[in-house]
Amino acid sequence: TLKEAFKDKFLIGVAVNRSQINQSNQEETKLITSQFNALTAENDMKWMYIHPKEDTFNFEQADKLVELAKANDMFVVGHTLVWHSQLAPWVFKTDKGDTINNAELTSRLKKHISTIVEKYKGKIDAWDVVNEALAEDGSYRKSPFYTIGGESFIENAFRFAHTADPEAELYYNDYNLINAEKRDGAIRIINNLKSKNIKIDGVGIQAHWSLEEPTIEEIETAIKMYSETGVKVMFTELDISVLPSPWNSPTADVSVSFENNPTMNPYPNGLPDSVQTQLAKRYAAIFELFNKHADKIGRVTFWGLHDGLSWKNNFPIRGRTDYTLLFDRAMEPKKAFNAVIDTVND
Ligand code: G3I
Repeated sequence: TLKEAFKDKFLIGVAVNRSQINQSNQEETKLITSQFNALTAENDMKWMYIHPKEDTFNFEQADKLVELAKANDMFVVGHTLVWHSQLAPWVFKTDKGDTINNAELTSRLKKHISTIVEKYKGKIDAWDVVNEALAEDGSYRKSPFYTIGGESFIENAFRFAHTADPEAELYYNDYNLINAEKRDGAIRIINNLKSKNIKIDGVGIQAHWSLEEPTIEEIETAIKMYSETGVKVMFTELDISVLPSPWNSPTADVSVSFENNPTMNPYPNGLPDSVQTQLAKRYAAIFELFNKHADKIGRVTFWGLHDGLSWKNNFPIRGRTDYTLLFDRAMEPKKAFNAVIDTVND
């Protein structure tokens, strides 16, 4: 299994959704607990679900996830405390509907983070404290957290999380963190926190990748550079799309639906063998690199259990059929699964 193969290298995690948390399908539960030793909630710990109103917290799904993880000796990652997306509508507004000021934002962040992290103290092992605070050019994303709070919202979030559970590992998590400009932005965040003696343990590189991008060389450079700042490197949301990205294709119109745009589904009869092999080779190259730098890498988490559950089926166009993961829609291991395992057996 994956967790056995990589046990001396890094944790192997999986993101799960509500139906896996509720164990609606025992086959899925078996696959989760036999193959993986770390769990992330794909959605259920996000602000809109866990803290939908100012005085309402909803811990039901998070409790169940923690229970499942603990019964199976799995590492739990809390995803995510502060993110501009999947947020509750009340967060930036006063009762009168005005935008809150920084003092109020700080107090809301404190309540949100302290309540959740304290509740799961000693149970949730690590937190994606801040998610996606950077723009593509490495400057801060102009989300309301930033426009109201400035960069101090990041410092505050890490401070509140550390106070609430001093043992929990704390991460900064983002996508496109291999790209040089954004990578340097993330390194700036890490160094800034460290210079102020604020605890940060890791960087979470989301890793929503394609068959070609980013290159192995680019990933390796990033691993080395992040590691030099003194944090652990985590690959937190790994999946590899085999479909063309509409943004890269000059002929694709992303505004039209999938049904009207058949070029967005090049494999109506299932994934051909040649592409299965391409995907297997791509995964193998990535894991060979991870193995080489296993001393710097804490965890690799797949963003979904099997192809049928991948968010990529609905992104960037709803209804696409993508084949991003190591298990197919029947939960059978794909060529890519064997190729990944073989990187440690070779
Ligand atoms: O909860 C509603 C449900 O009531 C409704 O019936 C259903 C119908 O579409 O939608 C449900 O909400 C969906 C939600 O996932 C929960 O399943 C949203 O439509 C859907 O857009 C949302 O997508 C999630 C996405 O974050 C939102 O931005 C994906 O599952 C999840 O994989 C994705 O995860 C993010 C990471 O958290 C951060 N990094 C990027 C990654 C991919 O976007």
